[in-house]
Amino acid sequence: MDFRAMVVNDLQCPLHDQRAFDVACQVGADFKPDVLDINGDWFDLLSLSTYGGIRSLNEKTVVDFDSELERGISLAKTMIKAVKPKRVHWKNGNHEFRFVRAFTRISDAAAKAIVNSQRLKHIYDYRNLFDFDSFGVKVTYAGDYPNGLWLHPTLPPDQNVWVEHGYIARKNSGYTATALVQERGTSVIVGHCERLALIWKHSVGDRNYFGIENGNLSLIGVPPSGGHTNGQGLYFGVPHSVPDFMNHQQGMSLLTHNGEWFPELIRISKGKAVYAGKTYKS
Ligand SMILES: [Fe+2]
Ligand SMILES: [Fe+2]
Repeated sequence: MDFRAMVVNDLQCPLHDQRAFDVACQVGADFKPDVLDINGDWFDLLSLSTYGGIRSLNEKTVVDFDSELERGISLAKTMIKAVKPKRVHWKNGNHEFRFVRAFTRISDAAAKAIVNSQRLKHIYDYRNLFDFDSFGVKVTYAGDYPNGLWLHPTLPPDQNVWVEHGYIARKNSGYTATALVQERGTSVIVGHCERLALIWKHSVGDRNYFGIENGNLSLIGVPPSGGHTNGQGLYFGVPHSVPDFMNHQQGMSLLTHNGEWFPELIRISKGKAVYAGKTYKS
């Protein structure tokens, strides 16, 4: 029986692109994956950023921690409802890691003793923080960043696909995926680097591995209000730069396994995507 999976990452809520998100939901609803793999940086956790001026860049990005969580959880539930997977895979990215990192910066000894208590750690576990119980579907949680997960439930490592958020972003599209196929020694999907690429590697013995750089679903360059809110008058994005200089692409991937893997990389641009010859619009 065919196995189908959809992989998305780098929504960066509240800096997500609502139109890209809508299109991803529509394509996913038609593809009907068994697994919806949420591969990190679903949340930006902008309010926990250590870059002072960024927390209130402009009127659209003024957020507090609670409202970021509410919005991100609600977006996850919206996608799950549209796509109807049998299971969700959840991986934290470096942005979710901001939550734990904030704890390490507490300097008050008593407060530090409290947050390091094992009982309290149980309460502020990410599974509770992001309210997985409310998703209405089974969630496989990878644990702490930068852990990844195998995409297929039963295939052995050399035939499976390793999906991780990643922590390296090479400037040229395809370089991060190429290096990771080499490093992990199997097929891989990686987020974080904001590029869009699908590369193949053939090894002797008719072994065919692929690597995907999975793009993002976030805004690419957010204009500052007043022109100087981040100190430089530059656009804010991930990272902060002029949009024209960013080699960032929106997208997601769809994978089918029917004895072999047939991965499809879906490009999303300006609220549009094409899948199976059909144009999807937000
Ligand atoms: Fe990211
Ligand atoms: Fe990331």
